[in-house]
Amino acid sequence: MAKMWAGVTDGITSKIADDFNSSISFDSRMYREDITGSQAHAKMLAKQGIITDSERDEIVSGLEGILRDIDSGALRFDPDCEDIHMFVEQVLTERIGESGKKLHTARSRNDQVALDLRLYLRGQTDSLTLLLKDAAEALLQKAEEYKDAVMPGYTHLQRAQPVLFGHWLLAYCMMLLRDLDRLKDCRKRMNISPIGACALAGTTYSTDRRYEAGLLGFSDICRNSVDAVSDRDFALELMSCLSILQTHLSRLCEELILWSSWEFRFISLSDSFTTGSSIMPQKKNPDMAELIRGKTGRVYGDLMTLLTALKGTPLAYNKDMQEDKEAVFDCVDAVAACLTVLAPMIREMKANRENMLSAAKKGFINATDLADYLVRKGLPFRSAYKAAGQAVKRCTDLGLDLESLPIEEYRSISDLISEDVYTDISLSECVKRRISEGGTGYASVDGQIEYVKQELSKY
Ligand code: ARG
Repeated sequence: MAKMWAGVTDGITSKIADDFNSSISFDSRMYREDITGSQAHAKMLAKQGIITDSERDEIVSGLEGILRDIDSGALRFDPDCEDIHMFVEQVLTERIGESGKKLHTARSRNDQVALDLRLYLRGQTDSLTLLLKDAAEALLQKAEEYKDAVMPGYTHLQRAQPVLFGHWLLAYCMMLLRDLDRLKDCRKRMNISPIGACALAGTTYSTDRRYEAGLLGFSDICRNSVDAVSDRDFALELMSCLSILQTHLSRLCEELILWSSWEFRFISLSDSFTTGSSIMPQKKNPDMAELIRGKTGRVYGDLMTLLTALKGTPLAYNKDMQEDKEAVFDCVDAVAACLTVLAPMIREMKANRENMLSAAKKGFINATDLADYLVRKGLPFRSAYKAAGQAVKRCTDLGLDLESLPIEEYRSISDLISEDVYTDISLSECVKRRISEGGTGYASVDGQIEYVKQELSKY
């Protein structure tokens, strides 16, 4: 059959070319946006006197019927149609006749596809925001539950200083808050209407682009028609935001995996979010956390796909741009799936306070506190640092820790040290003394919990 766009060519293409060119297998997921966009377009055309009110009514209700039938499954996508835009228009014309043929006045598939994708991704951004908020809330609840559990804080994956487990989890809450903010910001630039740019140059009809944009909930219109049909940075920006978000999820999951290992045993993931091994009966594998970490690769890959597809394309529309959809759909699907599993997995996770505490007792993680003690006694920090280092060395030789090193040993290192050193370097004291704003002290952690709560309530 000849194509709807048969004009200078006869519109008859090879089946191989058709299959290669077709996007309906993946862009059909934008059917709702395509239909809503077309309804708004018909309303604008009628308002401007380009079509009649009764033609508008036929188009709008015809489209409504198509939407209903796709939703119910009564109407199936025709794989021989080039894309979702052609499909909807073809079915409409079959159903309502002549007025259906008027719908495509003063627009082109170039602005139509840009419109559909913006509408679709706007909806996705909104649902991702809710999923992200839920994951952040789950982390916040855990932080509250374990706000007083002492664990070793790490740098270079070496025990560094004692911190509260709540403090560690709040670090992730802060990252997710920024991710929420980034999505919000990205949505602003996405929520601009390209429709009315037509093929690339605008149109000879007296259209009202702002009216149409308003019907669709956009906050503004694209100011340049060439830019309107060429721009995909709203999709790139969303994928950039999601790549950063996914980096955060991946780092968190890496820690969950480590912490749930026998080597750490800081947490246990619930049975409902782990798997067994087909051969080793003792195994409880953190598959969900590993998959979240693993899916990060495809999220970055999707961003690279579109960046690379766009980089050499001249203005305005090129068919290369059809490659945007699978990448961005895969990206939003992957991140949504990760967030959906992460939130309940965190809610069901349990921490082991005793194991964290006993790990914190090893590794001389209060050595900095011993140095700080000597500073309080009047030694300059550099000399105090040296003396504390000597104490650690002495402990290693004797197989002791700083809490059990006898006072005579301390005295031989510095006569500024007296019995009160033992309280000052006790783990709970070390945490309590981290009073600086944003530190791991108890009051600071309480303050952070309040802050995160307040920020999350804005979404
Ligand atoms: N399926 C196309 C896409 O996704 C729609 C736009 C086609 N426009 C055109 N002039 N070929 O990009």
